[in-house]
Amino acid sequence: MSAPVLPWPVEALRAQLAPLLPGVRVEVAAEIDSTNSELMRRARAGDDAPTLLVAETQTAGRGRLGRVWQRSGAQPGGALAFSIGLPLAPRDWSGLSLAVGVAVAEGLHDEIGLKWPNDLWWRGRKLAGILVETAGAGAASAPRYVVIGIGINIAPVAGEGFSTPPCWLDELLPGIDAPGVLSRVAAPLVRTVRAFEQQGFAPLAARFAARDVLAGQVVRLSDGGEGVARGVGPGGELQVQTDGGLRSVHSAEVSVRPVPAGGAPRGAA
Ligand code: BTN
Repeated sequence: MSAPVLPWPVEALRAQLAPLLPGVRVEVAAEIDSTNSELMRRARAGDDAPTLLVAETQTAGRGRLGRVWQRSGAQPGGALAFSIGLPLAPRDWSGLSLAVGVAVAEGLHDEIGLKWPNDLWWRGRKLAGILVETAGAGAASAPRYVVIGIGINIAPVAGEGFSTPPCWLDELLPGIDAPGVLSRVAAPLVRTVRAFEQQGFAPLAARFAARDVLAGQVVRLSDGGEGVARGVGPGGELQVQTDGGLRSVHSAEVSVRPVPAGGAPRGAA
């Protein structure tokens, strides 16, 4: 098993996160299948300790809707791939992935937009994605273990066949590296998730709206619907003005593609 090669600020991260997540573990893997899969496996085996797990290489990174996350196998530091797992007990889970997107975008750059439900975009290209999963089914009010996985392109992304053309953070923040990005986003992310646990998505809605790249765009849904995106509701649901009226899209199973004026869908996913 090889050792990590990048200078991860493990102790500084632990010090930042411990007041928000007492007992938090901060771990770096040189290589793993998927940081989300690993924390989900641990949770299913009864380990629900708050954990930040970062991987220099993922061999089976996962995206939303069962997709492969494209940076699997990329060189260490080409992307930042990490997951935070913690027990969480919000009254309503709706909008959690939007809240995560707000925290990460705000931690990175003013120009970064959010594409519902959980992609970070810059100038029409995808910069980062978020995969939120939960383990444990108890009483509705009991905490569940949530695993929040985030993948951010840092260096140029090679390859073809992306559903959305990618961009990378080095274009926006030249010289930034994966450990530096993690230091910028980890604590704001946990703070926002804690605020979400107390107050839900509604207090974050204006911050999402300020970065909403779909607002006012014609969008096509993977279930065949089409209309004009009209922002998100208080629970993070996408509002789409269709011929049949205003439709609220809640389902994480729906993907949304902006339709450029007079053209075919641009291929967002
Ligand atoms: C998406 O764009 O559909 C979501 C991508 C999420 C990728 C991250 S990388 C860290 C964590 N581990 C995974 O296997 N997936 C998430």
